Amino acid sequence: MLSTRQPILRNFWYATVLVESLADGPKPFKLLGQEIVLFLDKEGAPAALEDRCCHRTAKLSKGWIHDGNIVCGYHGWEYDREGKLVMIPQFPFEQAVPNAKAKNFHAKERYGYVWVCLGEPLSDIPALDYETDPAFRRIQQFYDRWQTSSLRLMENSFDNAHFAFVHKGTFGDINQPKPEKYEITETDYGFVAETIVTVRNPPNAVRITGTSEPTTKRIMRNHWYLPFCRTMDMHYPSGLRHVIFNCATPIDDGAIQLIQILYRNDREEDCSTAELIAWDKAIIEEDRDMLEATDPDAIVDMGRKIEMHMPSDRPGMMMRNRLLALLKAHGEAEAPR
Ligand code: FES
Ligand SMILES: [Fe+2]
Repeated sequence: MLSTRQPILRNFWYATVLVESLADGPKPFKLLGQEIVLFLDKEGAPAALEDRCCHRTAKLSKGWIHDGNIVCGYHGWEYDREGKLVMIPQFPFEQAVPNAKAKNFHAKERYGYVWVCLGEPLSDIPALDYETDPAFRRIQQFYDRWQTSSLRLMENSFDNAHFAFVHKGTFGDINQPKPEKYEITETDYGFVAETIVTVRNPPNAVRITGTSEPTTKRIMRNHWYLPFCRTMDMHYPSGLRHVIFNCATPIDDGAIQLIQILYRNDREEDCSTAELIAWDKAIIEEDRDMLEATDPDAIVDMGRKIEMHMPSDRPGMMMRNRLLALLKAHGEAEAPR
């Protein structure tokens, strides 16, 4: 499935840039192939417009903010958060500003990020209870551009047959290639997948897992949020919870913005942010290396023979079927690619 060919995907929220990154001015972002500019209005609320001035097409992201409006850097035309043109500095004072606008999009802040919906939202941003639970702290772990597709990242997130191979350098055990089974319950927003996995626990994982045993268990309760978000809630026997929230925001058909937020029910002195980043960075770089070596068109292998199916392919297949049903229900003109 090539995301930019499926207009229905424009009707979901996607995390784009950290809100704090807008403090020093507007920033460009590409979402589903659409060039947008993000900025903060007078109240400090995020706004999203098409990154194109209606005068001579300059990218508004090259401009700056004046009193909560965005100013085009080319000739100084000024737009408000709705995209309405409010000022042409070359006009005489008494001459009215023509009725013109840059296209605007829904934008709001959640979990430290600016979320954007290019169309009309079919669902809300995933609700994360960890955010308001005082037992948990939040760490903004990763903000990386990967050369893969959102659906590839999502199916990989629920594929525990790759641990023994892709993650043999961190927590995977090459001698244990047979994965545990997921129990999957479909929800209105996607599904919940539960499993218990035995993992290696090398010395640099001891403070992550809360045990010095050579192996430990992850009791996992993972959520998939249609289309491209997931939580991986890992509960260790030590009582520690290591909860990863990912957004695989589609930039275009060959690239995603990988966003990773971590929630932990411990304190900085128990396990430092630097340790947590180092451990999870090693893991996601293993995934990245493999995912960037796959075909980003994640539907093309749907025709795989039934006798080639592994039980661990089931979450990914459910995800694709759910997305295909969505495309069908909304009468997409173009067959999925
Ligand atoms: S191109 Fe933007 S003001 Fe001229
Ligand atoms: Fe992985």
